[in-house]
Amino acid sequence: MSASKNDYKRITTNSLVEMKQNGEKIAMLTAYDYTMAKIVDKAGIDIILVGDSASNVMAGHETTLPITLDQMIYHASSVVRAIKRSLVVVDLPFGSYQGNSKSALESAIRIMKEAGAHSVKLEGGSEIRESISRILTAGIPVMGHLGLTPQSIYKFGTYTVRAKEKQEAEKLKEDAKLLEQLGCFALVLEKVPAKLAKEVAESISIPVIGIGAGNGVDGQVLVMHDMLGMTQEFSPRFLRRYADLHTEMSSAFKNYISDVKNRDFPNENEQY
Ligand code: KIV
Repeated sequence: MSASKNDYKRITTNSLVEMKQNGEKIAMLTAYDYTMAKIVDKAGIDIILVGDSASNVMAGHETTLPITLDQMIYHASSVVRAIKRSLVVVDLPFGSYQGNSKSALESAIRIMKEAGAHSVKLEGGSEIRESISRILTAGIPVMGHLGLTPQSIYKFGTYTVRAKEKQEAEKLKEDAKLLEQLGCFALVLEKVPAKLAKEVAESISIPVIGIGAGNGVDGQVLVMHDMLGMTQEFSPRFLRRYADLHTEMSSAFKNYISDVKNRDFPNENEQY
């Protein structure tokens, strides 16, 4: 039996609000390339996030800051070519929207036009309200992102849980309301206490998708490479690994190397 109450042929921003209203949890994963996106779309994921975590898992950077708008467009266009059902959200990378709302809109338009994305995600609250508003006026759906916003890692200094103190929690609650009022269609809450995340999700009408934010929110997101067990060094408490592809892949690579070295591959049936 499908876990979905509605058999959506195509997920739209409206379907997500409907899911929240119906109490159906929203499943979101990242993807950065055609092949993986095709598999996860076919599996029935609701939202594919072309995250700027591509900077980490695809390019090997320590933070998400170095990835460029051109690189995000490359990843996003590969994903868009693969999907039939999921809603594709693309991160606006660091530096492409914080400066002023005009450049924010130009960045969002490039993502929509050149990659064929369905929506964009921006990190931050009141500080970037003008950028969010301007993008929305162009008819581009915006997903917000509060809590641990990795593009601000040098301000935070650490990847630890955010909004544990009252002042930061109050600001987060105000920002969530603001994003709803501005017209964002959903919101990611990253690494905040579960109680706070639940309170936020219950206080606004748009879906709240959590990562390290407990089970009281409207949906969950994970980085694909982490949940597949491809990355080994990253092991936060919130991460559930659904496969151990690092071991599987290492063993496949070792077997291949050994078969080549031992002249076992290719055999007679594997040649022309
Ligand atoms: O870039 C990303 O993968 C993200 C998720 C962690 C939410 O923003």
